[in-house]
Amino acid sequence: MAHVFVTRALAGDALDRLAAAGHDVDVWEDNLPPHPTELRERTANAQGLLTMLSDRVDQQLLDAATGLRAIANYAVGSDNIDLEAAARRDIQVGVTPDVLTDATADLAFALLLAAARRIVEANAAVQSGRWRTWEARGWLGADVHGATLVIVGPGRIGRAVADRAAGFAMNVITVGRDDDLHQALQQADFVSLHAPLTPQTRHVIDAAALAAMKPTAILVNTGRGGLVDQGALRSALEDHRLAGAALDVTDPEPLPADDPLLTAPNLLVVPHIGSATTTARSRMAAMAVDNLLAGLDGRPMPHPA
Ligand code: DGY
Repeated sequence: MAHVFVTRALAGDALDRLAAAGHDVDVWEDNLPPHPTELRERTANAQGLLTMLSDRVDQQLLDAATGLRAIANYAVGSDNIDLEAAARRDIQVGVTPDVLTDATADLAFALLLAAARRIVEANAAVQSGRWRTWEARGWLGADVHGATLVIVGPGRIGRAVADRAAGFAMNVITVGRDDDLHQALQQADFVSLHAPLTPQTRHVIDAAALAAMKPTAILVNTGRGGLVDQGALRSALEDHRLAGAALDVTDPEPLPADDPLLTAPNLLVVPHIGSATTTARSRMAAMAVDNLLAGLDGRPMPHPA
């Protein structure tokens, strides 16, 4: 029997399988993440750990958790975990790929459409009683149909966004590691970010990248907040060198209410809900538990990071 610390209550009954396998499961019941000290203390005597992307698993935590054998991250990304430090300690790390691809691609497209057609602003105008008549020149947005979409990151989610774009007859340009990003950005009406966050991709959308984009372009980010230099994004929006941005992810998360980015015009931000559908989240829970059961059993995880 192993002791497993789970850093948040999960949707569905996947955790029951850990208990059914005889493991002792300690679930953090608060909606807010455990403080790093609390995380360290609760993990110190655990052999298994189930983490959210908001839990930082660093050397200090791993040093304290001497019996830890398996970490299951409840995310497709693993940038919150020091993978090299875990490998040095023979701790397996698993993630939840594929099952959130469509949910995240749907959200990327929803953000793209909402930003292009100013849905949130328009809704606010109606709800607040500011909308007084049909306006011949009001609420003009950007065409999505037939526009050029640059997808940064040719992985599973990027490809799923390209599939959706095909239904809108968009011209899709996919940019991978070896492609010329700035050349692609010059052609973009929309840019959607799907690269993993690594030291190489941090601030891949910086001031120079934003300057390469057309002033009519719209940036969508459902990848990781660190892909974008938010100071540069704020300046580009304020100076109307970029038409809009729609973000599911920011750096940090949550963005403090007084963060200067939030005062920028034509900005839409949602609270990292890319995978937030009932189906995706319960499949993620099942996968995370599959990873833990294998890791605790000494078998290779089915979905390693
Ligand atoms: C992930 O799993 O990495 C996603 O960002 C969660 O929505």
